[in-house]
Amino acid sequence: MATSPLPSSLLTAVLVFSCIIFFIFPAITESQQTGITRHYQFDIQMTNVTRLCETKSIVTVNGQFPGPKIVAREGDRVVVRVVNHASHNITLHWHGVRQLQSAWYDGPAYITQCPIQKGHTYVYNFTIVGQRGTLWWHAHISWLRATVYGPIVILPKLGVPYPFVKPYKEVPIIFGEWWKADTEVVISQALQTGGGPNVSDAYTINGLPGPLYNCSAKDTFKLKVKPGKTYLLRIINAALNDELFFSIANHSLTIVEVDAVYVKPFSTKTLLITPGQTTSVLLTTHAQYPGANFFMEARPYVTGQGTFDNSTVAGILEYENPKSFSSSSFNKNLPLYKPTLPALNDTSFATNFTNKLRSLANVNYPTNVPQSVDRQFFFTVGLGAIPCPQNETCQGPNGTKFSASVNNVSFILPTTALLQSHFSGKSRGVYRSNFPIMPLMPFNYTGTPPNNTFVTNGTEVLVVPFNTSVELVMQDTSIIGAESHPLHIHGFNFFVVGQGFGNYNPVKDPAGFNLVDPVERNTVGVPPGGWVAIRFLADNPGVWFMHCHLEVHTSWGLKMAWLVLDGNLPNQKLPPPPSDLPKC
Ligand code: C2O
Repeated sequence: MATSPLPSSLLTAVLVFSCIIFFIFPAITESQQTGITRHYQFDIQMTNVTRLCETKSIVTVNGQFPGPKIVAREGDRVVVRVVNHASHNITLHWHGVRQLQSAWYDGPAYITQCPIQKGHTYVYNFTIVGQRGTLWWHAHISWLRATVYGPIVILPKLGVPYPFVKPYKEVPIIFGEWWKADTEVVISQALQTGGGPNVSDAYTINGLPGPLYNCSAKDTFKLKVKPGKTYLLRIINAALNDELFFSIANHSLTIVEVDAVYVKPFSTKTLLITPGQTTSVLLTTHAQYPGANFFMEARPYVTGQGTFDNSTVAGILEYENPKSFSSSSFNKNLPLYKPTLPALNDTSFATNFTNKLRSLANVNYPTNVPQSVDRQFFFTVGLGAIPCPQNETCQGPNGTKFSASVNNVSFILPTTALLQSHFSGKSRGVYRSNFPIMPLMPFNYTGTPPNNTFVTNGTEVLVVPFNTSVELVMQDTSIIGAESHPLHIHGFNFFVVGQGFGNYNPVKDPAGFNLVDPVERNTVGVPPGGWVAIRFLADNPGVWFMHCHLEVHTSWGLKMAWLVLDGNLPNQKLPPPPSDLPKC
């Protein structure tokens, strides 16, 4: 009767065994993707845009500025087909997306991929795992992110409730920075002369500078609201070089999520957001029609010594008049209220604000902060200098050229991608695995600078085994003046377990670490003249860029890379590269 060539007991054994194999080593694509696949087409193209009375040609996605919004649910796969029609080489980065075992799609140029050249296509393909809230995407080569950026909205899985007041409506609020000049010229000239690059001419909200700038009244972002409703504002700081304070006159904001991780809600009049960070807030409008308009404003938080754009961007919160149902009911003749923002250098506001950010740390949203660590690292982050080449004059500090470093190594981008070199076992001549785990020559980081403030150059990575529990203390230096640095790590979220001013004290400071409900995020501000301690589990094989998200500091070398090795199990390994991975 039985037609099977195998005895049935053996057949059963084979079936059971393959089921076990499937359970232990499920294909990553099937186990993590619990949702649908969402397809996007991104055409990189030049587009004329007019701001501040001047028209210039900028790099855009699909001709849009800011770029298109990506919407996905937790568990969905996102496939973005990027076709480069412009003559700028480009890559895109999905800022904050964990990219579990999809390092090839992370995007930083010369780290995980070579740039997409004119006429070429690359299809990014990643799954959103364990994240919900707001993230963003941006170009990740040179300064192209000045105009190439857009929001990523991650909705909860179907059937999973939103743990806060359900918003009536949601709106992205993206801050940017606008230059009249070509930003590629701005940075290349600065790197030539060694001086600081020209600062921006305006800040923008959703690409619009608003009424406080010349000829920009018509380019004003307006948020039209109804009384007595709750709005979810998905706030993103896409500015190149400036941390920003933000406030809406006569309204308070309830912070509910940062960097696509829910937080314990708290209410504030003003928030601080560094480049790279995202903050979702609930805005509850006045119960009754207020008969007034309200400015929302952003302006910089500045701690450095150099020049900066000290202007203010404004948008308008307008109430719909319930007595008038036409859309022309918004009245320009109503009283206008303006918010009060902290002073430009208000570090005590910054400290108070960041200390209020706490993980939910409850049953549904546990905080998996490593309670013990396998490896401890100490990185200095800050500005420095390199000597002026002979027969040149330089505009950096004391006639030198500006530089920036981590542990005094100013990172030089290779000419081929680190991840490819690593995967193919051809690291020789591309990178070295000797990134210092602490400063080679310790000094008084926040006191009198040492005599020699020159940095060294190198392409050095820090290698850690799979699943290493990492503690990293980042210490600002005052070599060229103390300054806040928003440090971003690709491929991981980390827990901010402590921060302080002055030099980190490895004996006393750990006692104050928060291992209960520290905020979890992908970008953290290292306090000016202070330190921050973070912890994360290196559970994602690949090469992961870490850098200051002030683009000028990245250009000067405030960047490095982590190389996380494969684990032993099949689902702990970096998969092979996709066939369309761009070539250098
Ligand atoms: Cu938004 Cu490498 O970063």
